[in-house]
Amino acid sequence: MNNSPTTHHLPHTLLVTGGAGFIGSNFIRYILNEHSDWQIINLDKLTYAGNLENLEDVKDNPRYHFVKGDIADRKLVDALFSGEYFAANSLTPNTQDLIPNTQDLTPNTQDLTPNTQDLTPNTFLQVSTDEVYGSTEKGKFIEQSPLSPNSPYAASKAAADLLCHAYWKTYQLPVIITRCSNNLGPFQFPEKFIPLAVTNALENKSIPIYGDGSNVRDWIYVADHCRALDFALQKGEPGEIYNIAANQEKTNLELVYKLLNIMHEPQSLVTFVTDRPGHDRRYALDASKITTQLGWKPTYSFEEALTTTINWYVDHEHWWRKIKSGEYAEYYQRMYPQR
Ligand code: TYD
Repeated sequence: MNNSPTTHHLPHTLLVTGGAGFIGSNFIRYILNEHSDWQIINLDKLTYAGNLENLEDVKDNPRYHFVKGDIADRKLVDALFSGEYFAANSLTPNTQDLIPNTQDLTPNTQDLTPNTQDLTPNTFLQVSTDEVYGSTEKGKFIEQSPLSPNSPYAASKAAADLLCHAYWKTYQLPVIITRCSNNLGPFQFPEKFIPLAVTNALENKSIPIYGDGSNVRDWIYVADHCRALDFALQKGEPGEIYNIAANQEKTNLELVYKLLNIMHEPQSLVTFVTDRPGHDRRYALDASKITTQLGWKPTYSFEEALTTTINWYVDHEHWWRKIKSGEYAEYYQRMYPQR
């Protein structure tokens, strides 16, 4: 960390990894709008869910820089950290925060954690998920609840959380971990439940509900999540974990009926299909720590969030149609052969 007086007025630079996906792209847009003197480097490998069309509106913003690459590419990450990479652009990212936000962090988080003292970021924000706690029938998870992930994806996120915590304990890497509940909002890849339901309804296709539809998820609007990440970055304490949730639990069936009602589409579109293997029954988070300690609270009600999200998909048909029928068709066929 460089505390010399010549650097403290330099613009704040965030290195966001996996920023071309759903939450990452919303976060980048949010930060650019909210902080007129912050700049962002988006390092993304552009695998299936990373899509530069998600950031079409900010691509020419002089405070936004896209780099296609892998966070496991040590040389590249070091060059981004040291500022070498951007020397030609007179960008000086030496007051950097690092926000890993990627699907599979087990080995990669380790790759991202700097091994030299001079390349230490001010903050290393690990964007995690409520899935690390596993499922519960009753009560809500707090930050001290044991990690009990049930899927390989959730296990990889839990492993990444533990690695981050270990780097804080061993090397004092200033890690902050956030764990958020299910997000809804613009730019969510249409394999996820809400965009899948909205776009299927728009195409007059049936909406598959796993099992009996009684599984429960706790929903938050993506912009509220992004605001919470900003609070964590600015006010969070290194070494701390913050749950993020809006206290809006819904069964999948409740959710889909509400969605169809808003869209004026018939309930007959709902089709019950074989349950997903290892389908967690209920996720529920207690987010009182971030509310009481950092002063964050959600601003969107579930109804507002759902209506805004539906309207976005109605207005951005070209975006999701391309994904559903174009370059990702093969992926869809493989993932959802029944449709
Ligand atoms: P999803 O959006 O995949 O998120 P997650 O599994 O991370 O919670 O699913 C949300 C809920 O909706 C989950 O309980 C699974 C259920 N679901 C269906 O019933 N049908 C579907 O086609 C999908 C994609 C999900």
